[in-house]
Amino acid sequence: MSESKSQFESGHEVPVAHQDAPGLQHKMKGPDPEDENVPTEDGGYQIYKAAGKLKGKRALITGGDSGIGRAIAILYAMEGADSFIAYLKEEEKDAQETKRKVEEKGQKCYLMATDLTDMKNCKAVVDAAVKAMGGLDILVNNAAYQMMVEDILDLPEEQWLHTFATNIHPLFYLSKYAIPHLSRGSSIINNASINAYIGRPDLLDYTSTKGAIISFTRGLSNQYVSKGIRVNAVAPGPVWTPLIPATMNEKAQKEFTSPMGRPAQPSEIATCFVFLASTDSSAISGQTIHANGGVVVNG
Ligand SMILES: NC(=O)c1ccc[n+]([C@@H]2O[C@H](COP(=O)([O-])OP(=O)(O)OC[C@H]3O[C@@H](n4cnc5c(N)ncnc54)[C@H](O)[C@@H]3O)[C@@H](O)[C@H]2O)c1
Repeated sequence: MSESKSQFESGHEVPVAHQDAPGLQHKMKGPDPEDENVPTEDGGYQIYKAAGKLKGKRALITGGDSGIGRAIAILYAMEGADSFIAYLKEEEKDAQETKRKVEEKGQKCYLMATDLTDMKNCKAVVDAAVKAMGGLDILVNNAAYQMMVEDILDLPEEQWLHTFATNIHPLFYLSKYAIPHLSRGSSIINNASINAYIGRPDLLDYTSTKGAIISFTRGLSNQYVSKGIRVNAVAPGPVWTPLIPATMNEKAQKEFTSPMGRPAQPSEIATCFVFLASTDSSAISGQTIHANGGVVVNG
């Protein structure tokens, strides 16, 4: 098992098991998030019953190359939607695999490697998605960065800024640039985290951005709900994705579970993103779905 430091050196060692950030799904060791036998009785896609809920829709999914973002692209494809996914260039191989899986379900998947911490890239992604798909109906803000640091005294200022630049600023840029292309019935869905509700101490910067995402979701919903655009969030608990071996130490990985006795599979979170994008949730906006394995939280 290899160990490496946070990309933000401060003299504090952040042990990272298995791989460096960003995590790559094709290099994951241990249970395959899409293996039909682990970590629960089925891989998610096998039991999922699609019903054309997103037929003809066009979705922009950030961080769609792997983990939860990939699962969203696949379930959206099963429901009849095309996807445009944005990801970091190191993740090209994972992105190609997402594209293959979406196309296997009979839908289109467009790829763009870019760094969303730059607002110009956020604009370019929205423009490219609209051009490729002929419009936009769903924006899924899913990309994020995290790196464990146990004490605020050891948390590098650069990491604090980078986590905010990755996890919250692009939500503002992408929503601002996407909304002119959205119409009544469109949805914006933000990936938050249980950590915003439980205040996870060893992910202080990440946890703070996830709280900001909840507030952003509520404020933007209050701006746009009367115009027919719904804005919601999902707050997952532990999910076995490349983010985990790339950013959590061995102890945290061993404790990576929920009251259900296991982490979730990405597909179990992606079902919430289908619900929130479809007319099944037509009376829901400004809310958060807690797909967290049974932790009861307020809000
Ligand atoms: N895995 C969990 O336990 C868990 C729990 C709660 C919330 N989440 C949230 O789920 C979302 C998806 O994470 P995941 O667990 O599927 O991991 P993941 O590593 O598969 O996905 C994160 C993605 O973010 C993208 N990304 C990061 N920095 C970027 C940048 N600067 N520009 C463009 N893209 C960038 C990468 O493409 C990466 O694939 C994140 O918002 C994460 O906070 C995950």
